[in-house]
Amino acid sequence: MKHFSKLCLLLSTLAVSIAPVTWAHEGAVHQHNKASQLTDVYTYANYDQVKATHVYLDLNVDFDKKSLSGFAELSLDWTTDKKAPLILDTRDLVIHSAMAQNNQGQWVKVKYDLAKRDDVLGSKLTIHMPFNAKKVRVYYNSTEKASGLQWLSAQQTAGKEKPFLFSQNQAIHARSWIPIQDTPSVRVTYTARITTDKDLLAVMSANNEPGTERDGDYFFTMPQAIPPYLIAIAVGDLQFKAMSHQTGIYAESYILDAAVAEFDDTQAMIDKAEQMYGKYRWGRYDLLMLPPSFPFGGMENPRLSFITPTVVAGDKSLVNLIAHELAHSWSGNLVTNESWRDLWLNEGFTSYVENRIMEAVFGTERAVMEQALGAQDLNAELLELDANDSKLYIDLKGRDPDDAFSGVPYVKGQLFLMFLEEKFGRERFDAFVLEYFDSHAFESLGTANFIKYLKANLTDKYPNIVSDSEINEWIFNAGLPSYAPQPTSNAFTVIDRQIKQLTTDEITLAQLPTAQWTLHEWLHFINNLPLDTNQERMGSLDKAFDLTNSKNAEISHAWYLLSIRVGYNEVYPTMAVYLKSIGRRKLIVPLYKELAKKPQSKTWALEVYQQARPGYHGLAQGSVDAVLN
Ligand code: BES
Ligand code: ZN
Repeated sequence: MKHFSKLCLLLSTLAVSIAPVTWAHEGAVHQHNKASQLTDVYTYANYDQVKATHVYLDLNVDFDKKSLSGFAELSLDWTTDKKAPLILDTRDLVIHSAMAQNNQGQWVKVKYDLAKRDDVLGSKLTIHMPFNAKKVRVYYNSTEKASGLQWLSAQQTAGKEKPFLFSQNQAIHARSWIPIQDTPSVRVTYTARITTDKDLLAVMSANNEPGTERDGDYFFTMPQAIPPYLIAIAVGDLQFKAMSHQTGIYAESYILDAAVAEFDDTQAMIDKAEQMYGKYRWGRYDLLMLPPSFPFGGMENPRLSFITPTVVAGDKSLVNLIAHELAHSWSGNLVTNESWRDLWLNEGFTSYVENRIMEAVFGTERAVMEQALGAQDLNAELLELDANDSKLYIDLKGRDPDDAFSGVPYVKGQLFLMFLEEKFGRERFDAFVLEYFDSHAFESLGTANFIKYLKANLTDKYPNIVSDSEINEWIFNAGLPSYAPQPTSNAFTVIDRQIKQLTTDEITLAQLPTAQWTLHEWLHFINNLPLDTNQERMGSLDKAFDLTNSKNAEISHAWYLLSIRVGYNEVYPTMAVYLKSIGRRKLIVPLYKELAKKPQSKTWALEVYQQARPGYHGLAQGSVDAVLN
């Protein structure tokens, strides 16, 4: 970053800290404390009494120690006039000291207790407050165990020369590198000073300036209030390339140009989304290409979505992921679920908006195929899922929210919104969604408040179209309502017929019109081949289309899954390479699950996993451990 702007930031920080501190809460008579309404059970924070409004992070990134160290300064807004502690979430942090700023502006040491670690929630940090301070600092360091960070050695990166660090805070991992009120019910603005090796670039979910000088000393500002799960950092040998005036890519050089080519519709996606859902409110929208071990497809960190390299397919066939993460700029980042039970408000709306963006940029046919593939996956998943976990308003029952992750909040949520669109017509429904985003901008809300809003602004406004009991069925019942939309694609109907003809030898492989098939048609084809497909047919399919060596990670995944199921063993050597080179949960966990079903393939899976595990992210390790043990 240029010295000029660094100086400005320093000056403005100084200006704030030397300004006379007014002491609004001391001695003042305040209105009665509202009855406690803490809806998020995944935080220890007493956010009914005090809320952080701004966080300043001053952290050094030490790759040798795999540790972030420094301090977090929280600006506080007290809503109680009683003396109360400040309770923060932490997990596997080493706390060095805590300070509070008194009304003379001096920093005084304060006492704190760090409770025993809970497996799901981490360690409650209680900071005892001699007065209701407006600012508190916690000096600390994160440890190698941080569940929200992955530290990759130079050897583990594609370039093999420089190490890489990235964070993944959603759902409750912010606390593993920041002592904070780790709940989506609290929103903070943030600033940060990040120091690290001179030859590495740090980026955050904040104002990344394309021209930043690479000097190991970086400042960030995020002026829009966001929940802590959206605070994000990455450090690595990153280069930047612009795609448009507003969008660009940060990546290690091996994939930079390919990513720029793959994602050059990003600006068009923003433009279309703005036309439907209102202004994009976050300034720049850049993409960060993560190492292949990134456990998700993408993560909607504001201003800088984190993206798996497994979607760089060479033909834009997987760019719905970008539409998805971009869509979160409205659903999730602007209007946020207030607890992880309400995840469907984030992901259901986002899957719906994602598909609308895909339709607007790539046309209806592709959008419908993506709907149909999503619905097929959901239906398959529903067969295995505990009925309770197939409710939109999910009962997490004290489990780690990561453990209850499924396609339900995504696709069932999307189908619910498609149902409403169908019933009320696109014009009315679009106006409703636009107004929903606008009226809840920079707020968090839960399922109950959403239902209230939905009734007032849609279902009661245009009565006798959708009943309350239908709304309740969608949100509180298991599975899909009998009247749920069933997206079907004509292209897929054609393929279903061709599969039948193929299996009855009415047509040959050469007669399949595969030259014109899109990725989606390929996926539908592979996913719907019968489970009694014999070795010979698998072999000839492979010979004709080289599916085992497909460059498309989704095709490989579908083909390997089928191969394990039907016992087509030719794929094993290539599948081993696949499992060892990528760590995206959605692509690897189903394969391990399938392999674990038979003793022989399970033994093989354990061997591969032993080699693959050190390269996986903690979240992926946890999921695969659960499958294989
Ligand atoms: N926000 C999610 C990822 C997430 C969800 C992390 C819940 C932790 C807890 C992200 O936007 C996402 O949904 N990614 C999907 C994208 C896909 C549906 C297009 C993924 O990673 O596969
Ligand atoms: Zn999402």
